Amino acid sequence: MEQLNTVSGHLPADLVVEGGRVVTPDGVRDANVVVRDGRITELPEPGVPLPPGPRVDARGRYVLPGLIDSHVHFRTPGLEYKEDWDHGSRAALAGGVTTVIDMPNTRPPSLDEAGLLAKAELIDGTSWTDYRFHIGADPDRPELLAELDPRIATSAKIFMAGHHTAPVVFRDEEQLRRAFAAAARGGVRLVLHAEDQHVFDLLDADSGVPDSYAQYEPHRPRSGGIVAVARVIHLVREYGTKAHVLHVSSAEEADLLTAAAAEGLPLTFEVTGHHLSFTHDDTTRRGPRTRLSPAIRECRDQKRLWRAVLNGEAATLGSDHAPHTVEEKNRPPADAPPGLPGVQELATGVWTGLLTRDTGPDAAAAHLARLMGEGPARLFGLPGKGRLEPGADADLTLLDPSARWQFSARDVHSLCGWSAYEGWTFTGRFTTTVKAGRVCWDARTGFTGRPEGRWLRGLGRPLEVAR
Ligand code: DOR
Ligand code: ZN
Repeated sequence: MEQLNTVSGHLPADLVVEGGRVVTPDGVRDANVVVRDGRITELPEPGVPLPPGPRVDARGRYVLPGLIDSHVHFRTPGLEYKEDWDHGSRAALAGGVTTVIDMPNTRPPSLDEAGLLAKAELIDGTSWTDYRFHIGADPDRPELLAELDPRIATSAKIFMAGHHTAPVVFRDEEQLRRAFAAAARGGVRLVLHAEDQHVFDLLDADSGVPDSYAQYEPHRPRSGGIVAVARVIHLVREYGTKAHVLHVSSAEEADLLTAAAAEGLPLTFEVTGHHLSFTHDDTTRRGPRTRLSPAIRECRDQKRLWRAVLNGEAATLGSDHAPHTVEEKNRPPADAPPGLPGVQELATGVWTGLLTRDTGPDAAAAHLARLMGEGPARLFGLPGKGRLEPGADADLTLLDPSARWQFSARDVHSLCGWSAYEGWTFTGRFTTTVKAGRVCWDARTGFTGRPEGRWLRGLGRPLEVAR
């Protein structure tokens, strides 16, 4: 009788992922994964008899939860010439990502529920990954956040500084206060581009717009981020609003946010792959391909951000996948938009970096699962995602941990067709991605099936962050 409750019961499985090293919330261990009806049902130890059903051979691979990238710009509506959901979500699968959270700075921007519903309708049936949306906070109507329907969005993006790609900017203190107060009332988590426009305006008035990429970082310096982060901390302390600071770029911001979180404030932060992989020297040498906003800074900042990744201070890794066309990027610096693609490269780039930092592969796999699995799932309330355990959605990705390979433009799935990582030698390669119990991408055979990604509507209030 006991057998009926175990994998050796006779029920066939829809899929068995066999012989891998499985990355679970309780540790990394050798195990098999049994899938039925789109969910993980068991994680039997090696040697336990497995049910019949289709097999995926995971020997020599890590089996990770399908990764979550909580910061992508997939450009629908209005900017589909830069990226579209078919290409963006294929790029995601090839990078181990099965769920994305998309940003609102489209044309028009999604600044209210009607805008987001219209966007969702356009995307319906075109995404290979599951998805959620950050709504855009509107500086003219910040009170909308107090009434936001959690089935439409549970998080809202605030741009505190403007550039080519920011549709609306919160310039004055009063607008920010109203947004923080309304978000606190509505239980909405703010996700912030925290750079201070006033600092940048002063610099522009003083020294004009730079004409070389060597000048980009000094022109958009760390002081902009530090001022804005200090203001965010102050407002969180005052209103109790949940806030997640995006793409932290400097050591000082990481220090300030870590200290604020230690006070018990509901503040978390994201680090991007770009800020971990490159420095300002790359931007000086290679120009537009590593130019984004906020600027990539010095070696000491990169070291501090790696420390935040390794010691658990950072809550999420995001790609800030922000594709632009080659023609746009090659315009003179003053006219070229900031941003680079990354949803495909993020986890592989970080894996490469983790291994060069003396992190053993089991520990590296656990870091990836925390920062692109449990971390974002908990922060944004994505039940069934980000944890490889019985009952979870059967979203998985297989990583060959030691494959060494050179990344080139031919590997890029994003519509923009280029990558800042062209010519890089990566260590580690995603080989197979499973979504909802179905193999949807394999490095050898490509994509199978159709784009069946679902809109993961908030089911209620997001779960609280543990710390
Ligand atoms: O460099 C950036 N590009 N930073 C942003 O905040 C937006 C992004 C974009 O949408 O291109
Ligand atoms: Zn972004």
